[in-house]
Amino acid sequence: MHRTITDGARQQPPPNGIDCLRVTPSRPVPPLLQDARSGLLDRPRSMPPKYFYDHRGACLFDAICDTPEYYPTRTEEALLQRHAQEIIALVKPDHIIEFGSGTSRKTRHLLDACSDSDRPVTYWPFDVCEPVLRETGHALMQDYDWLNVRPLLGDYHAGLDELPVPEGPCLYLFLGGTIGNFDSPDAHRFLAEICNRMQADDCLVMGADRVKAHAVLHAAYNDAEGITAEFNLNLLEVLNRGLDADFDPGRFRHRAVYNDAREQIEMYLVARERHQVRLGALDCAMSLQEGESILTEISRKFSVESLQSMLTEAGYMLDRHYQPDNHYYSLLLARPVLERSEA
Ligand code: SAH
Ligand code: TRP
Repeated sequence: MHRTITDGARQQPPPNGIDCLRVTPSRPVPPLLQDARSGLLDRPRSMPPKYFYDHRGACLFDAICDTPEYYPTRTEEALLQRHAQEIIALVKPDHIIEFGSGTSRKTRHLLDACSDSDRPVTYWPFDVCEPVLRETGHALMQDYDWLNVRPLLGDYHAGLDELPVPEGPCLYLFLGGTIGNFDSPDAHRFLAEICNRMQADDCLVMGADRVKAHAVLHAAYNDAEGITAEFNLNLLEVLNRGLDADFDPGRFRHRAVYNDAREQIEMYLVARERHQVRLGALDCAMSLQEGESILTEISRKFSVESLQSMLTEAGYMLDRHYQPDNHYYSLLLARPVLERSEA
């Protein structure tokens, strides 16, 4: 099943980046209005995390990655740096498709390994944040003159049926511990959807954060400089614009706590005082009590066993497991178990 790809890439990229191919959702994606109606008005209140990532949110996320407390980025980067050559030698990819690619910072180690081994791959970064995709695509094309970049704009929760299926071995990448931001059923569905697309030579490389001392986890989501707080509160600005709402970020505080029983960080926006927020687009107001919270993100932490079973249940076998000496993080290389007749 090979589709022809009509992309809009231009010869000379404009200064704000290169064009993105819009991935058609394979199942309906609820618009912000619907997500806000069910998320903000039902209890417990919550919002899907994809709304964090307007341009400012994406920049704040990048700043979180540089805080001294946020160990996952540094740890994953060191693992990629150390094992990129081996990964590329094992997979011999013609294509790298990355979900939630952001600024593709860590992916550069894999691209460097492709350079070193003369593998002119096509890189398909897939993200929901268009400005970052465009800028990153442009920067990568400048820094890797041999690289073919095909940015894909879409929502990875909307199904992968319409994603291009390129020819040749494909390395699927899912970094940053983003799998932990999915609840268990969503993680299973997403991993199984990738697996269903895979040919025998394809591979998944995924990063996942591990269960560890609470103090380390707590600090990572409560950095002293308050950048994570700013990132969380920025969601309110996104909602103000998208919903014609009047959230006052000054009336909320950031709260991130580790839920031991569920092995996950939970991030909330908590009302500092009792007040009302007008939601213009929903033609209503919401009343918040002092201390009432909106769940904005979960970040699940895994054990080797829970990672292993998540992959097995979604149709993979684990081929390589890279981890640092302190076991803070896992970088996994998994292959599909092919039971299909064409395998
Ligand atoms: N992979 C990068 C960025 C991780 S942050 C790293 O490891 O540092 C999560 C990324 O996923 C952001 O770039 C965000 O824009 C993107 N994202 C969030 N929700 C998404 C969705 N529903 N569909 C596609 N991309 C999404
Ligand atoms: N995937 C990242 C994580 O779970 C996302 C993240 C890091 C995040 N810091 C955050 C999301 C702060 C919301 C707020 O670690």
